[in-house]
Amino acid sequence: MNQVLVEMLRQGRPMSGEELGRILGISRAAVWKQINRIRERGFEVQSEHGKGYMVEKCPPHTLIPEKLYLRLADRIRHYFYSASMDSTNTEAKRLILKEDLGDILVMTDQQTGGRGRLGRKWDSSPGRDLTFTLGLRVDDDVRDFFRYTILTATAIQQTLLQYREGFLIKWPNDILWHNLKICGILSEMITEANQIKYVLIGAGVNVNSRPPLDTSTTLQHITGQEADTNLLLSSILEKVYQYLDAYRTGDYESVFQLWKKNLAWMDSSVRIIESGKETEGVLCDVNKDGSLLIRKGMETISVYSGDITQSLRPGNK
Ligand code: BTN
Repeated sequence: MNQVLVEMLRQGRPMSGEELGRILGISRAAVWKQINRIRERGFEVQSEHGKGYMVEKCPPHTLIPEKLYLRLADRIRHYFYSASMDSTNTEAKRLILKEDLGDILVMTDQQTGGRGRLGRKWDSSPGRDLTFTLGLRVDDDVRDFFRYTILTATAIQQTLLQYREGFLIKWPNDILWHNLKICGILSEMITEANQIKYVLIGAGVNVNSRPPLDTSTTLQHITGQEADTNLLLSSILEKVYQYLDAYRTGDYESVFQLWKKNLAWMDSSVRIIESGKETEGVLCDVNKDGSLLIRKGMETISVYSGDITQSLRPGNK
């Protein structure tokens, strides 16, 4: 994290090397060195004589950890960014297993081995889509893991609604826009003696890439405008912490109800495939543990895992 960049972005006005040095407790030479590094990263830094330094332009299509830090410093202490890495979930796990860091954010502009649910691959466009993992330090029973899945999906869906209407949650935690996928979430955990120590929330959001496939879409395609990935990510994380605070202060129910209200295909015919086994019926409700209630004729069954799709049989809703 470049402290000079944090300070310049925070102030948003020209600052002399002397002032920056004084605020940060470093020499003017050290300030100058950091400014050079900021320029090497592609920032345009104004340095007119007598006016001081100011960030004129940030590099496009890249995540800027300093911007995330500015909005989330009181919640996340550790920020890891690399232009390219195999998978933010894998990297987060590596970092946490090395050191018990507390909440961490791992982000990249390019994943070379992005992982999806059920052992699938996750592809994203370098610099155009959002790929990150939030590692939450928790102390919870493993049976409560699903609550984090619910909480995160709701946070991302509610954030996307700030851009346009029409986003819904595909059980348990994908985000759809008119049945086209815009976001996938891979939640994993690090446990110790039946307790969750860390929840890893890895999300991939299709933001500015295109053209969309016939099964997926992107935020730019929906709104017609390029979105700022730094702003989107900080808004998502603020929502996650808002719901986390609700959960931690005993109001998980309101988040659960919001999740349930925003689930796709409620009261419609659906098909769920799990390990090659297919279940078809009407999605009529969800249980408190996040599992689905599927009505098949006279009987109602609970489904705990699998891949859900809308069933488009003639006569089905
Ligand atoms: C899915 O839809 O199957 C879930 C996809 C999750 C992808 C994200 S991208 C960031 C994080 N790192 C990964 O390797 N996977 C998740």
